[in-house]
Amino acid sequence: MPREVARLPSSSLSMGGVLMLEIPENEDNLTALVLRTETGVYGWLNSCPHDGRSLCNDPLYLLNRKTGLIQCMHHQASFGPDTGVCTDGPCVGDKLREIKTFEKEGQIVVLL
Ligand code: FES
Repeated sequence: MPREVARLPSSSLSMGGVLMLEIPENEDNLTALVLRTETGVYGWLNSCPHDGRSLCNDPLYLLNRKTGLIQCMHHQASFGPDTGVCTDGPCVGDKLREIKTFEKEGQIVVLL
């Protein structure tokens, strides 16, 4: 059963914005990335399917400013911000691990 790991006011995530959230009780110190696109709010584990390294250390730099795609800082794999699917780079076709995220009554809820 998924557990709630974060609950934030919707106003804390603007269009095109990305937040990095701690995941409680995780030995690997993984973080969650929550972002808002024109189609909704999405959550992805901050771990690249290419070799498991963090996609970014600073959420300000997660999205490529020209393409709007998620771009891994290591070998520049690109992922759809709403699909999590890699469309370019060393892991084409692989997918980011989704972190269930939904928005309801002015709040963003993140489940794991
Ligand atoms: S670790 Fe992300 S592209 Fe290599």
